[in-house]
Amino acid sequence: MKDTIFRITENNRIAKNVYRMTLAGDVSDIKNPGEFINIRLDGFYLRRPISVCDLSDDSVTIIYKVVGQGTEAMSRMNIGEKMQVLTGLGNGYDLSLSGEHPLLIGGGVGVPPLYLLAKRLIGRGKRVSVVLGFNTSDEVFYEDEFKALGCAVAVTTVDGSRGVKGFVTDALPEGYTYFYTCGPEPMLRAVYRATDTSGQFSFEERMGCGFGACMGCTCKTITGYKRICKDGPVLKKEEILWEN
Ligand SMILES: Cc1cc2nc3c(=O)[nH]c(=O)nc-3n(C[C@H](O)[C@H](O)[C@H](O)COP(=O)(O)OP(=O)(O)OC[C@H]3O[C@@H](n4cnc5c(N)ncnc54)[C@H](O)[C@@H]3O)c2cc1C
Ligand code: FES
Repeated sequence: MKDTIFRITENNRIAKNVYRMTLAGDVSDIKNPGEFINIRLDGFYLRRPISVCDLSDDSVTIIYKVVGQGTEAMSRMNIGEKMQVLTGLGNGYDLSLSGEHPLLIGGGVGVPPLYLLAKRLIGRGKRVSVVLGFNTSDEVFYEDEFKALGCAVAVTTVDGSRGVKGFVTDALPEGYTYFYTCGPEPMLRAVYRATDTSGQFSFEERMGCGFGACMGCTCKTITGYKRICKDGPVLKKEEILWEN
């Protein structure tokens, strides 16, 4: 884990209330898709955790939705401004279990971590299918970016304004060997029920410290209590114990 200063090199709106931000700095502690960074914002006590979407030798890209004051403040930041960022957080996805035809299922701002995952899986010669779920067409992002990587992409919208009408579970393809998913909890529960292979889930719980010290993100699993920030955010299907 590293706490370093990053400089904003991009902060653009890419869909309704959704922004892509690229941060230049020391990314040497970021290893796996599914890891997250924790951003300190002036005037806010708690840092804001955001998944790693893409990575280069000297920058990290994130995609965030404006939902409250912290992300609203981020959306108003300009190129050249600096941020203090903790990197190297979370376990990330385990790529070794993917099989030859992994399926990636993302909902809303659960989509970003799947982009670096898709890139890495394609780099290993895997045939990657992706299902991206949104509420409406103006919320859709990264359909073309996943296609440009070589993924087979299906988009769903709840109102049917783009792609398949319905939820991600209405567009699951046949024949996948394993799945990786990230999104809101109701979607994760539906994916858990609708899938017939093993897979991995990334949970975007509310967090305190973000690095394992406060126990604020603890959840019960089949193998005991886990801290989502440090033992997760990715859990395997077999470990998950849905409460109520
Ligand atoms: C590991 C991890 C990865 C994440 N990755 C992303 C990402 O890639 N892109 C992205 O847009 N967001 C992501 N989030 C969620 C993001 O951290 C929150 O949306 C953000 O912290 C909200 O800050 P805020 O000050 O704008 O909102 P707040 O004022 O803190 O909250 C505003 C509203 O958002 C809700 N909220 C706050 N945090 C969360 C959360 N963690 N999950 C669900 N609802 C929340 C609150 O309940 C409230 O209704 C991730 C969270 C975690 C834990
Ligand atoms: S947020 Fe502090 S232990 Fe997870």
